[in-house]
Amino acid sequence: MIRSLKQITQLILKAKQAAYSQMKGSLEPAFTGPVKWPVKCTVGPGLEGAIACESTVGYVNGSLGALIYRGYDVFDLCAYSNFEEVSYLLIHGALPTRKELEEYKQRLVQYRYLPATLRQLMSFPVEQMNAMAALRMGVTLMRQEFSLWDKETGRRVTGQAIGTDEDSIPMETMPRGEPHAVYEFENAYTHKGWTAAETAEERATGLRTCYHLLAGTPTLAAAVARLRRNQMPLDPDPTLSHAANYLYMITGRRPTPIEERIMDVALILHADHGMNASAFATVVVASTLSDMYSSIGSGIAALNGPLHGGANEQVVRTLLQIGRPSNVKAWAANALAHKHKIMGFGHRVYKTYDPRARVLGPLAKHLAGEKRELRDLFETAIALEAEVTAKLGAKGIYPNVDFYSGLVYAALGIPLELFTPTFAVARVAGWTARVLEYLQNNRLFRPRAIYTGPLNLKFVPLAKRGQKKRT
Ligand code: CMC
Repeated sequence: MIRSLKQITQLILKAKQAAYSQMKGSLEPAFTGPVKWPVKCTVGPGLEGAIACESTVGYVNGSLGALIYRGYDVFDLCAYSNFEEVSYLLIHGALPTRKELEEYKQRLVQYRYLPATLRQLMSFPVEQMNAMAALRMGVTLMRQEFSLWDKETGRRVTGQAIGTDEDSIPMETMPRGEPHAVYEFENAYTHKGWTAAETAEERATGLRTCYHLLAGTPTLAAAVARLRRNQMPLDPDPTLSHAANYLYMITGRRPTPIEERIMDVALILHADHGMNASAFATVVVASTLSDMYSSIGSGIAALNGPLHGGANEQVVRTLLQIGRPSNVKAWAANALAHKHKIMGFGHRVYKTYDPRARVLGPLAKHLAGEKRELRDLFETAIALEAEVTAKLGAKGIYPNVDFYSGLVYAALGIPLELFTPTFAVARVAGWTARVLEYLQNNRLFRPRAIYTGPLNLKFVPLAKRGQKKRT
């Protein structure tokens, strides 16, 4: 049973020890140092093995089971840091000084407030929408809010008519009006003639957008959860940390220090994870010189699927369906016989135990010990892990981050439909960091598809096509 914050640190360090004791080989990345483009690599379906870009944001070593953010082991960041510091590290590339951290935290607190965005969001039937769709829409609405601020004065620009130049966005899509479309990235990163001061100002604006998204998505996600339960969104609490405030805005109750710390650790564990599908989606959108809000919106859309972040919700649904540990064997045998993918297991990169699950598993165990209603689910999870790894461990299939995270979230009072949005709330840190980095040396993404369709077909006019069905 965890009774002190120190015990959580010990639990994390124990998980680190277990991970390192099983690592065969050194942590040295297989591909280090600058890539000499064009690069030769073997590419599989789904771009498996393709190198999309160089990055210093983070590194996943799948055969060793290691996860690194900006050079720091994720276990150490979980043990000794907090989400505010880690998100700063990801976005800025280095840990903050005390002064930088204080200023950063103040900025995040300021950007937690989204009254106008929430008013707009509440004009939609959020209670009937998929929570990730509502979050994605909220992020789009946030952009509208942000672009109404005058960059130099920090004051709102109001009362301006919609422009009539060719960049104008029609009233239907931008109901609050905007002088003209703002392609932030084009200004920020490609205007070669700018002075250093102008470039710095634009860089600051880019960072402000990252902070806005990082601080705003928890407010949106919590509001979505409450609206779906016919409750009004709660104002953020400026005295609380990022993690504690998130839980407070969802539940209406200030979490205990242990709950706050566990939420914080979960956010750190989900903050970044290499060039996964959603990270790739964000940089693909950014590479067109669209804007950060659209990029993050595309990340949310990609994360939603059950093969990616959506698995955390599906895991708990699976455990509920299985019901109790004694049902596991028969359930798993049936699933494997039908070649069903078991949610929360396997990973495109890890062929060993996911380091994030090494921390989340014991945390779930502690929380299940505290909450009677979760005990059966946790015991079922333990039985399922044993069964699946016995059958598929030889293939490199082990629990991934999503296997235990849902149990942790449920114990913290986060509703089921908010599990994947909670993943997104953390991942905004990695997404924004990767987009900022990618744009330093932008190249429009344009892979190829190999055409396998017919050629030289002769066009047949409609009247002569008869009843033949198209295949
Ligand atoms: N359950 C049962 N069999 C599996 C699973 C699973 N979860 N994952 C892989 N396999 C089997 C698969 O059937 C195949 O078997 P065979 O060789 O006999 O055809 C083999 O392992 C290779 O599968 P794959 O689909 O080619 O492997 P992949 O590297 O493309 O899969 C994955 C990665 C995550 C899509 C897959 O493991 C999966 O669908 N897992 C369940 C969904 C899930 O938990 N997703 C969360 C991923 S972690 C969070 C995140 O970063 O998004």
